[in-house]
Amino acid sequence: MKVLIIGSGYVGVNTAVVLAYLGNRVTCLDVNKEKIALLRQGKSPVYEPHLEETLNLVRDRLTFTSSYSEAGIPDTDVIFITVGTPSLADGNADLSYVRQAAESVAENLGEKFTVIVNKSTVPIGSGNWVEVIMREHFNSNHNDGQKPDFSVVSSPEFLAQGSAMRDSFYPDRIVVGSQDDRSIERLKELFGPLMRQDFNAPPGLPRPEGLEIVPLLVCDLTSAEMIKYAANAFLALKISYINEIGRLAEKLGADISAVSKGIGLDRRIGDRFLNAGLGWGGSCFGKDTAALIAIARDYKLAMPIIESAREINYGQRTLVVDLLQEQLKILKGKHITLLGYSFKPETDDLRDAPAIDISKILIQRGALVRAHDPVALINARSHYGQLGVVFCDEVGEALKDADAIVLVTEWTQYREMDWEAIPRVPVIDGRNCLDRKRMEELGFTVIGIGR
Ligand code: UDX
Repeated sequence: MKVLIIGSGYVGVNTAVVLAYLGNRVTCLDVNKEKIALLRQGKSPVYEPHLEETLNLVRDRLTFTSSYSEAGIPDTDVIFITVGTPSLADGNADLSYVRQAAESVAENLGEKFTVIVNKSTVPIGSGNWVEVIMREHFNSNHNDGQKPDFSVVSSPEFLAQGSAMRDSFYPDRIVVGSQDDRSIERLKELFGPLMRQDFNAPPGLPRPEGLEIVPLLVCDLTSAEMIKYAANAFLALKISYINEIGRLAEKLGADISAVSKGIGLDRRIGDRFLNAGLGWGGSCFGKDTAALIAIARDYKLAMPIIESAREINYGQRTLVVDLLQEQLKILKGKHITLLGYSFKPETDDLRDAPAIDISKILIQRGALVRAHDPVALINARSHYGQLGVVFCDEVGEALKDADAIVLVTEWTQYREMDWEAIPRVPVIDGRNCLDRKRMEELGFTVIGIGR
C-alpha cells in the first residue's frame, strides 16, 4: 500500500520503518527540515535500538519530505497522524500540531478513498474533531462541489521507548477504532502481516517464542482513544502502587523487591511494572495521567486513584534526596554523582526524567551535582545546560570527588562497572538494580528504595 506518515518522532519513524519492512511504500513527512535531512541520510532523529539499521535496510521503500504538496496525498491509501501532543499548563493536550496536520491533509486530498489514522495520543473524542476539521477545511478549499472521501480511525500506539522496534513488530494487540467497514478492511490488510506474524523476523529482532497471532480489537473510535489513556494510567498506577507499598516496607524493615516478586507471581496481577524506585518519567505517563484528569474535570468527575498515583510518583524524587540527606546529614557543598540522566535505559529521552527534578532539588539544597549518561548528554546539555549540573562524558569524571552516588537510570553499564575501583561512598540505588550483596562485600553502603 501507499502510506504517508505525518510527524517523524518516535512513533512516526518506528511506524514508517515497520510498514516499509512489511513491503509498503511509505512517505514520512515532517515540517522540521532538519529531521527530514537526517532521515534522508539514513540517520534516525531519535536514539532507539535497531531503528537505524532497519531503516537502512528498507530505505528504497521510504521517501522523506517536508512538503504536503509533494507527499503524494491524492494517491495515498492510509495516512497516519503521529505528531506530538504536548501537555498544556492545565494538563490538557496541545492539539495545534494535530490541527495543522489535519488541515494540510484535507487541502491536498484527491478523489481516492483515504483512511486517516490518528496515532497521536489525542484527548478522547478527538477523532471526531479531526474529521470535522478536515471536512470543513476540504469544503472551504473546494467550490466545485467535490465531496471528500475519507474516514478518520483511531489506532493507538503502545510502543515503549528503548524497545520500540520490538514492540512494533511483535505487539500484544492492535486496536482499531472505527465503524467504517471500508477503513476496517483496509487496516486489516495493512496490519495483516503483523496479525498473522508471517513475515521474516528482521535482523537482531527475533520473534518472541510462541508468538503466532496478534489479536486485533475493533471497537468504536472513542473507546479506542480511551484504551490508550486507560492502559497508560493503569501501568503508571501499578508503579505508584508498588512505590507506596515500598514506603511502608522501608519503615517495617521488609524488602520491596521480595514483596514485588511475591505479588507478581499471582497471574492475576503479573510481575511487570512492579519495580519500585524513582518512579516513572518519560513522555507518556505524566502527560496521559494529567490529560485523563483534565478530561474528567470537564465532565465534573474526579479521578482520585490517578491523582494519587501522580502524587506518589513525583514524591519519589524528593524522597531520594531525603535519603541522601539522611546519609550525608548536610548536603550543602557536597558532591553528588548522578549515574544516568534519561528517564529509562536505552533511550536519550529526557522528558519528565526524574534526574531533572532530583538535580533541581539537590542544587536547591546546596549540593554540587555531576551527572553521566551513556547517550543522553547531548540532549541534557542542550535542554538543561542552565541547571548548574556538570555533565560528564566519562563516568570516572562524574565520580570525581563524589561524596555520594545516586543511580538514577538502570543502564547495564552501571550495573556492570568496576565498583571495586570506586571510593566507598554511600550509594543510593534509585532502581534497586545493583547486586547489593556484592556491593556490601566490597564495603559500600547501598540504600535502595523501599528496602
Ligand atoms: C510507556 C508505555 O509502556 C507504552 O505502552 C506507551 O505507548 C508509552 O508510554 P515508555 O514511557 O516508553 O512507554 O516506557 P515504560 O517502559 O513504560 O517506562 C515508563 C517509566 O516507568 C520509566 O521511567 C521506567 O523507568 C518506569 N518504570 C517502569 C518503573 O519505575 N517501574 C517499573 O516497574 C516499570
